Amino acid sequence: MYDFKPDADLPKPERYRQLVDAAGALVDGESDAVANMANVAALMWEFLPGINWAGFYRVVDGELVLGPFAGRPACIRIPFGIGVCGTAASTGETQLVRDVHDFPGHIACDAASRSEVVVPVKRDGEVIAVIDIDSPELARFDEEDAAGVEALALRLANAI
Ligand code: SME
Repeated sequence: MYDFKPDADLPKPERYRQLVDAAGALVDGESDAVANMANVAALMWEFLPGINWAGFYRVVDGELVLGPFAGRPACIRIPFGIGVCGTAASTGETQLVRDVHDFPGHIACDAASRSEVVVPVKRDGEVIAVIDIDSPELARFDEEDAAGVEALALRLANAI
């Protein structure tokens, strides 16, 4: 069974490369989307320091519905266009938020969250889910995190 541990003190891009490789190894050959999202949520939790939530919202009947995650219980349904996740879903673009207090309409599922990155997962050009990662630290995420999570989203497009 899986027993990979991320190396300590890796440069961020290399840490994400290892995360994407580990995710690929876990989802390849498995067609169950819930199982794959659950394992990848656990991987994000294990690989990414300084976070308090990591998981998926899926597009179901035109809105976002909570999927597998690691962290505290979260809002279940988010309309397109609302909050950080809903904005990523409606625009199809990564949202890098250095301070959630400055994001209009941010949905505070956990009052401890301070910064966040949300990346849409697309299949055939359509947003099918978003990956949401939250941190209690201000400005925890930068362009390298955005690029890393985008690579993960691409790798998962046919597995969730
Ligand atoms: N912060 C998100 C809501 C989801 S929770 O953080 C898990 C948002 O505004 O979209």
